[in-house]
Amino acid sequence: MKFELRAMQPEQWDDVAKLICDGTNYWYESHGMNPIFTGGHQPVKLFCEVYESLDPGCCVLAISESGDIAGSCFYHPRPSHVSLGIMNVQRDHFGLGIARKLLGFVIDLAQRQGKPLRLVSSALNLDSFSLYTRAGMVPHVAYQDMTLTVPEEGLQLTESMESAGEVRPAVLSDVPAMVELENRISGISRGKDFEYFINNESGYWRTLVLEQAGELVGFLTSIEHAASNMLGPGVMNTDQQATRLILAHLDLQRGNSPVFLIPVNRSMLVQNMYNAGARNCEIHFAQALGDFQMPNGVSMPTFMPETG
Ligand SMILES: CC(C)(COP(=O)(O)OP(=O)(O)OC[C@H]1O[C@@H](n2cnc3c(N)ncnc32)[C@H](O)[C@@H]1OP(=O)(O)O)[C@@H](O)C(=O)NCCC(=O)NCCS
Repeated sequence: MKFELRAMQPEQWDDVAKLICDGTNYWYESHGMNPIFTGGHQPVKLFCEVYESLDPGCCVLAISESGDIAGSCFYHPRPSHVSLGIMNVQRDHFGLGIARKLLGFVIDLAQRQGKPLRLVSSALNLDSFSLYTRAGMVPHVAYQDMTLTVPEEGLQLTESMESAGEVRPAVLSDVPAMVELENRISGISRGKDFEYFINNESGYWRTLVLEQAGELVGFLTSIEHAASNMLGPGVMNTDQQATRLILAHLDLQRGNSPVFLIPVNRSMLVQNMYNAGARNCEIHFAQALGDFQMPNGVSMPTFMPETG
């Protein structure tokens, strides 16, 4: 079968949302897990909306000879790297090399720009794990995806958490310090994303910063939407600061069950989350093709938008 690669057009958002919703749910359900998207395909247009707002034209489609969309892949060029967003293939076209072709397009683009390619891929999904590692991507950091249903009465903060610093909503003038902190901890740079979250024109985003003695020592964004309820992206110097920011976000999500990715090697943070009542729901790997700096602190990636 022949497939042509083309950029997604606005009139294709509906079909791409259907592909993401049906393809992802089918994969998870056929492997004995719960569906990821439970509200139908309409809310899943969030992926098109967010990625097209951040980087217009950065979704590549595989179009079959009959003109149908057989696969889609979002990507996000940033100053320090290219990140690969959600990748999907029509369920009756699995195993035909469509994802490999889409991935090849994004790898070429990253290599032409002289940047590493980064992503976060599920450790439970051998199809995507194999797709990426066959293409030379290297898993570097493992994350446990955790979730917890926030009680209606909110979460209690201990005194030691209060002493981790002052939490407040982020403002645009925080962006340079956020960029600098992430650059030091994770070696990447993406100030445009932070401006987008803080401007929050859609109303889905919240960004909190943590300050100690007037210095920005951590920040964490969250999204609350029918297609994605997650904490992240964010970086913090210490486990205690990460715990403080996570609990502050959770307290704003009473009655919700957001998902957040915790590096498996941050043992104090992991224990703090278990103590708060969180449970594991999946495992992911940060993968990169090209340079990768092991985090010098806590890095919390997310899938919306992908921040590997
Ligand atoms: C994951 C997904 C995108 C793969 O798409 P696909 O078009 O079927 O993948 P491809 O046919 O291009 O195959 C990918 C490669 O993985 C290889 N592969 C698959 N399973 C493997 C295994 N267990 N061990 C080694 N290699 C394996 C294939 O052989 C192929 O490599 P090759 O072409 O060099 O032989 C598709 O299954 C999908 O859409 N799943 C639902 C959504 C999802 O999970 N998306 C990924 C998360 S973002």
